[in-house]
Amino acid sequence: MNDAPTPREHWSGTLGFILAAAGSAIGLGNIWKFPYITGENGGGAFVLVYLLCIAVIGAPVMICEITMGRHTQRNPVGAFKALAPRSSTLAHLIGLGVLLTGFFLFAFRDWGWGTLMVILGLLIFRYSWTLVGAMGVIAGFTILSFYSVVAGWTIGYIWKAVFRQLNFADVAVAKEYFGAFIQNPAWAIGCHFIFILLCVLIVYKGVKSGIERWSKILMPLLFLLILVLIIRSITLPGAAAGVRFYLTPDFSKINTGSVLIALGHAFFSLSLGMGAMITYGSYMGREQNIFVSTLSIVFLDTLIALMAGLAIFPAVFAQGFGPDAGPGLVFQVLPTVFHQIPFGAFWATLFFLLLLVAALTSGISLLEVVTAYFVDERRWSRHRATVVFGFVIFLLGSLCAISVANWDRLAWIHGLLVKVFGSVKGSFFDVMDHISSNWLLPLGGLFISLFVGWIWGTKHAVDEIRHGSHNFADVHLISLLAGLKDDPSHSSEIHVITLASLWGIFIRFISPVAVLIAFLHTIGWLDLRP
Ligand code: PHE
Repeated sequence: MNDAPTPREHWSGTLGFILAAAGSAIGLGNIWKFPYITGENGGGAFVLVYLLCIAVIGAPVMICEITMGRHTQRNPVGAFKALAPRSSTLAHLIGLGVLLTGFFLFAFRDWGWGTLMVILGLLIFRYSWTLVGAMGVIAGFTILSFYSVVAGWTIGYIWKAVFRQLNFADVAVAKEYFGAFIQNPAWAIGCHFIFILLCVLIVYKGVKSGIERWSKILMPLLFLLILVLIIRSITLPGAAAGVRFYLTPDFSKINTGSVLIALGHAFFSLSLGMGAMITYGSYMGREQNIFVSTLSIVFLDTLIALMAGLAIFPAVFAQGFGPDAGPGLVFQVLPTVFHQIPFGAFWATLFFLLLLVAALTSGISLLEVVTAYFVDERRWSRHRATVVFGFVIFLLGSLCAISVANWDRLAWIHGLLVKVFGSVKGSFFDVMDHISSNWLLPLGGLFISLFVGWIWGTKHAVDEIRHGSHNFADVHLISLLAGLKDDPSHSSEIHVITLASLWGIFIRFISPVAVLIAFLHTIGWLDLRP
């Protein structure tokens, strides 16, 4: 095995990195999902809970990922390989736990899950922490396969908006139209193909002239589009009700369930838990400031999510619709709303273009995780890796595309899964979404914080963070907040309450515990609902 670092491309500067990483973070999660889960969970109150999750868990975990990437200059698997000790008691304990769970399941004749657990336990013994990186690469496949299907729908809807085919008298009509559209394989697979092709073309070009260059074009475009849409939306007669709904917190709607939704979404929205930020961090130079970059990415991601709500809710309320339409909000309610206002087709086109731009910069980061792994660890050329895995993801995604509604077209896979696991919830599309969002990302986030906090160690991580961070990491927090960072009497001593120490505590204790609780709740082992 050759562990010498390969010569690596780097971002041209901090702005390039921030825009690319913000591009990864800002995606369908912000514009499609955030507004509808906010609508379902009480508006402003949910927004506050979400902000708390971002600050307490999202940002600290993002710092972990970027730091691991920059320090090792490797893809997620390579990063864990480089930093993990030869043998780790914690990993052995986890492996043993998983193995025992497997045998326990055998005792209950749950052969499918039991075998899966035993294999997983053995893999943990064999590969230890490196497996967390591998989980990230696998998540790259599974997420992109369903993500690109939804992104494909937006391409289809741009087309239909341009040709004025989204003329819905009411939401029921829009719903029926959407249902028929996503079940039409020609549209679903064709548009999914175009999206993957766009991702491949960009990633093929490399870090600087592909990902960075396109992020620098697409992110400002995204900002402009969303700004124009907000202005249109809040100037509609009756829009104030939507603004009020969005900005007035109603805490009676908040329960443990919504807190956990907020936490899960924080991970997905910030592209955390699967090594996307490890990968992007690995193209970062040591002179760049990790704290400032993280804050900027988190800020931009949150800003765009909030702006998406402001572009959507006022228009939805103005036309007399409710906020709780669920996943159909964007593809069913919005086109109906646009149809009722002057130049509706134009606004609908802009909106779906916005959605596509957001999805594209996230899609390329997912493909880049897979690509980086095959380039670094398997010595493939970037060109070969992007084309081959773009195609593999296209095939996997096609299965999602033809099975969004039910398993009718994939009866054989369904039969196989039922035989092995007893029962399967939802369609193939749902299974991919479920595996990634509910298992791979939270577990990835949990293990990344445990790893940095307890195995690699916050001390080593902070040593890395200090490069390029001026005295940001070590300055007394109170001085920092007071704007006295560079005041000689404030920076001369070694301080205890610093950004670095605060981050260390979050990463060692708060993030792992919070994520573990959320994870156990989502998989149904812990019921926190009142
Ligand atoms: N953050 C992206 C979004 O909000 C999705 C994503 C998740 C991208 C994980 C990369 C990695 O849409």
